[in-house]
Formats: sequence, C-alpha cells, structure tokens
Amino acid sequence: VGLSALSSSGSSEGLNYQQKKLISEYNPLYIPPLLYNPYAKRYRMPTLYVQDTFHEFYPGKKSPATGLSTLQHHCSYFGPTIKVKRGDVVDFSIVNLRQEPVTNHWHGLHIPGRLDGGPHQMIQPGETWNITMPVRQEAATCWYHDHTCGKTAEHVYFGHAGLFLIEDAHSAFLGIPDIYGVNEIPVIVHDKLFNTNFEQIYDLRGGPIFLGDSILVNGTINPYCKVNPGWVRLRILNGANDRHFDFYFKDGRSFYVIAGDGGFLNQPVQIDQLTLYSGERAEIMIDLSQDGGGIIDLMAKTIVVDTSGGDLFVNIMRLAIEDNFELPATLPSRLRKKWINWEEEIKSAPQVISRSFDLSSNSTLTEMYINNKAYDMKVINEFVPRGVHEVWEVKSLRGGHPFHVHGCSFLIMAIDDESPPDEFKGWKDTVVLPLPEPGTPVGKYYTAKILVKFDHTTFRADGTNRNISGLKDQKELRYHFPYMYHCHLLEHEDKGMMGQFIVYDEA
Ligand code: C2O
Ligand code: CU
Repeated sequence: VGLSALSSSGSSEGLNYQQKKLISEYNPLYIPPLLYNPYAKRYRMPTLYVQDTFHEFYPGKKSPATGLSTLQHHCSYFGPTIKVKRGDVVDFSIVNLRQEPVTNHWHGLHIPGRLDGGPHQMIQPGETWNITMPVRQEAATCWYHDHTCGKTAEHVYFGHAGLFLIEDAHSAFLGIPDIYGVNEIPVIVHDKLFNTNFEQIYDLRGGPIFLGDSILVNGTINPYCKVNPGWVRLRILNGANDRHFDFYFKDGRSFYVIAGDGGFLNQPVQIDQLTLYSGERAEIMIDLSQDGGGIIDLMAKTIVVDTSGGDLFVNIMRLAIEDNFELPATLPSRLRKKWINWEEEIKSAPQVISRSFDLSSNSTLTEMYINNKAYDMKVINEFVPRGVHEVWEVKSLRGGHPFHVHGCSFLIMAIDDESPPDEFKGWKDTVVLPLPEPGTPVGKYYTAKILVKFDHTTFRADGTNRNISGLKDQKELRYHFPYMYHCHLLEHEDKGMMGQFIVYDEA
C-alpha cells in the first residue's frame, strides 16, 4: 500500500510577509496520513491499532487521546485517512490495544451487516477484528468511527474516528482537485473542552449534549492551511458529537457544493452557506484563482454553550494562498455519469409510508427513544426486505435531530413537506429534522421522508442467506449482525435514540 503523509500545509514557506504575520497565531493544519493503494484490486490495508495515546493539542502539553496507528504511522489522535477504489476487495485487521471493548463502524458504506462494525461487533481488549470488504459503491467521502453501545460519544470524542474515501473510474477523471493535503483538503470539524492542564475532557457540564468551547479541524486548534491559487476542494466532515455548523467564508464569497454524504451531485450547487450536522459530509470547491498572496477565512455559525440559544461565529480555518502557479484542476459543469433524477425518483416512489420513526425522550432528557423505546441490543426493531424501495418517515416534536441509517444511501424526499435544498438532493445517509423556529407552538411535528433501499443483507455468515419470507421473529437476531438507525447526536444515540433492523431476502 502506498503511503503518503505529505502536506504542503505544514510550513509557512512560500507565504509573503503579510501572510506570515496573519498566521502567526495559527497552527498548521494537521493532515492525517493517507492509506491508499492506487494499483492493486485485492490487497490488505496496513493493520490498524486502536490505542490509548497522548496527543499534544497544545504544543508541549500532553493530553490523553485515542488514535488508530499503523506500523508505519503513529497517529496520536484520530486514524489515517483510508482511500479505496470502487471494485477493490480489501482486507482489514483492526487490533484493539485499549483496555475496553471498541467497535469500528464504517459510516456511509454499503456493506453487508457482518462488516458494518455496529454495537454487536465488539473487539475485546487484545483482540483483532478481521474483515474482507468488497467496495461496490460510487465515489464518496465517508468515515469510520467507534460504535460501542452506550460509549460511542466518549470513544469518538477522544479520537476513534477517521476519514474513509472512495474513488471510482468516473471521479478519477473529473479533473477536480485530487492531490491529498495539497488541493484536496480533509476537514474534520469538531469541538473540544480542555481542562487547565490542556487535556481534553469529556464533560457534559450538566447539559444533555456535549458542547465544547474550542472548535478544531483534524485535531488542530486554530488552524491555517497553505494552499495554491486556483481551485481547492475541501472534504468536510462534521465530526462533532452534537454541534452543527453553518459554514461560510468571511468575505461572503460563494462556493460550490460538489458532493454530499454518499457521492457527487449532478452538478455543482453554488451557495454561500452550508449547514452540516453531526455525521454529515460535503465536498466543496472554492475558486482561489484571484487570491494568490492573500488570506481567506472559513467561518461557521454554531450555537453558544449557555442556554440563551444565541449564535457563535467562529473562525474554522484560515486559508493562506500562495502567490504561485495554479495546479491544474477544474470545476466540471456535470459531475455524475449516472444522473440522479430526483423528481422522477420521488414521483415513482411508493405512495405509502413503510415505516415511521418518532424521536423523543423523557422529560429530563436522560433517556431517549425511537417509537417510545430506548435502544436494546436484544430487540430487533424492524425487518426490512432487501432490494425494495421503502419510504421511511422520521418525525419529532423537538426537531434538530440528524437521523442516520446504516448500510445504504437514500434520497431525501421531503423535509417538513418541502423539497430539500439542491445540495441535499443527492445521495445521503443522514437527514436532519429542522430545529424549531423561535415562536413555533409546541406540539408541532418536524418531519422528514426518505426513500431507502438496501443492497445487502445482515446475515452473519457469507453464503448462508436463507430465504425467509415474512420473518418477524426476535430469535433471528442470532443469525444477524443488524444495521442501526439512530440520531447522530452521539449523546442522543448513547441514551437510546437508536434502533436496529435486519435486512433479509424475501423468498
Ligand atoms: Cu456514524 Cu451509526 O453511525
Ligand atoms: Cu437527537
């Protein structure tokens, strides 16, 4: 496997005096090492070791953290960026060197339940999880993270996460920026809370969700990133436990969304603000051809920590643009070969709602439910036939929940009975129920409708897909590694706002 961790962002070389002054208080953006094998089709990824580590969020100050390392790369926080190609068959080994069980879920991947890495697939301390993963889906920005029952929020917070990128024959020839760490920048946005020793702490401070005081990118506090003029592509992941971000540029310039959770949009969507909730991804492109020698700030609006419900405007990352030649890259007017005809798909979707999910909680927010039940590892909540289009309705009296489904990409049909904005008309795996507008009467349901279909089953072993019709029996759980659906606010998930389902073949 080819390895490269090189990034141009790491030094201020090539920047002018003014720029150097403007980044003097900023830290070079950390670019996670890339694991990528561009040539082989059938290969083994370097073994990933999940470890308790020490990471310096502040120079010289060691903080406990979790990282996923390989023999070649020590990652003291997060894991490497994994990149694979559609059509590859890849062996993974994940070794748990921590003192407690972990799991490793592949968020956004269309893979059978037995590879999914949900709460049932615990890797005990000292154990290794070996899987062989066939990559069948189109190019997308996905990710991986811990999914331990009741512990996901804490494990992900400390660093058990990383990016998982998929390329395909089409994406490779689009001509968009694709030099990792140079003009294709991984941007994992998340928040942190530090104690007076500069150690990260997981502390809800009496609230129902985690809200940190510092916003980081890839684990870097107050980052800057050196880029070339011309087109630059950001692969943005909202990796925060709970915060959502409305991204925009400080100078008000517009940018182009080219991809969402599960792949490219038909065409670039030009906007000047993009909202991502926990777990969501988007790829954006910005035109920096006129900005050589300058500075551009990526900003975000997010919520303040107190209960005022006010907004916080934060500088996410400073881009320092070299006064240099442009790297060859373009923004194509058409991004997909296989067009998504959203209108058509919605029109030909089943006219009935197959399943409905009501997201709620007890009054003290200590327990959270879907359809009035907290997650129970021993209960299968839904039985879903493979290969069948279903309309799922998600609703909540409180709103503000990003609802995520494993094992598929779906189309958003409607949010509160309206079409989603253009940037969300592509493949998604997370849909957000809107937050209540101030002054909305209580008792109003916030709703979303999604069109789902699963390509894989959740049966445990390969080749034993029994044909079962009308299967409805809880004891089937022992034959399955079920998929999950849940709120991707990680504390909501851990408190029970999750359900599990099996996907079976109809006789
Ligand atoms: Cu990103 Cu069920 O998870
Ligand atoms: Cu939620």
